[in-house]
Amino acid sequence: MSWTLSITGKGGVGKTTLAALAVRWLTEHGPKPILAVDADPNTCLDALLGVKAPRTVGGVREEAKQLAQSQSANGMGKAELLDMKIQETLVEAAQFDLIAMGRPEGPGCYCYANNVLRSVLARIANQYPAVIIDNEAGLENLSRRTVQRSDWLVFVTDASARGLATARRLYDMALELAISAQAMGVVINRMRDGECLDRAQRLFEDTPVALLGGLPDDAEVAARDAAGQSVFGLSVENAVYTAGKQIFRRIRESDAVRI
Ligand SMILES: Nc1ncnc2c1ncn2[C@@H]1O[C@H](COP(=O)(O)OP(=O)(O)O)[C@@H](O)[C@H]1O
Ligand SMILES: [Mg+2]
Repeated sequence: MSWTLSITGKGGVGKTTLAALAVRWLTEHGPKPILAVDADPNTCLDALLGVKAPRTVGGVREEAKQLAQSQSANGMGKAELLDMKIQETLVEAAQFDLIAMGRPEGPGCYCYANNVLRSVLARIANQYPAVIIDNEAGLENLSRRTVQRSDWLVFVTDASARGLATARRLYDMALELAISAQAMGVVINRMRDGECLDRAQRLFEDTPVALLGGLPDDAEVAARDAAGQSVFGLSVENAVYTAGKQIFRRIRESDAVRI
């Protein structure tokens, strides 16, 4: 079974940045190949990974819905056709593949489409030793169970008191929604000083959420993203990547202890 790291948090906090850095780190230190899942309808993980995802699973869902209503192909043929179409949305790079989920379902009955998608996606994900999921803001797609389970659910937050409080609320919601994860952690992005670490410690002290660390605000990260450049070109001594490495190492080490 694959090792899955799922990243969540409110909009603009740095989820996609952290997800892309996790993919880069795993290409250097972890099990390969990696499946990167862009579960944000506003697909943008591809650019940070230096690839392009022209097709999305959401597009296949629409076709599946229409197929389900059509009389033509028999059941077996339909499922195989959709399986093939989902496989076609996979973008292959040297050390990782990317699949973009695209838009969630619109109005109407998508039961057949979603059942096929779920089973095909689970089968695809199982073929990879490591899966990184970049979620949309909030817990929508986690609760929709596009993602069945994860080894790590990581909440990303900015350093503000309000941001941290939101991260805590997301954790409480995750519990209410019975979102399953073997372990949970919080990462503070654009950290300025240690004060927010203390605040985060206090906010999560009654929970099993691990304080994984912080990432500094960094001009190179912002400039490369604005220019549509991937994280693979970030210099090895880049401050965000250096801090990210420590976080991913902490995650993997704590897995080694737990397993
Ligand atoms: N540590 C950082 N330093 C500088 N800029 C950052 C940092 N983290 C994220 N950014 C920038 O902030 C914006 C939002 O980040 P992103 O990862 O897309 O957030 P999210 O996926 O949570 O919406 C992007 O332009 C990104 O380059
Ligand atoms: Mg994002």
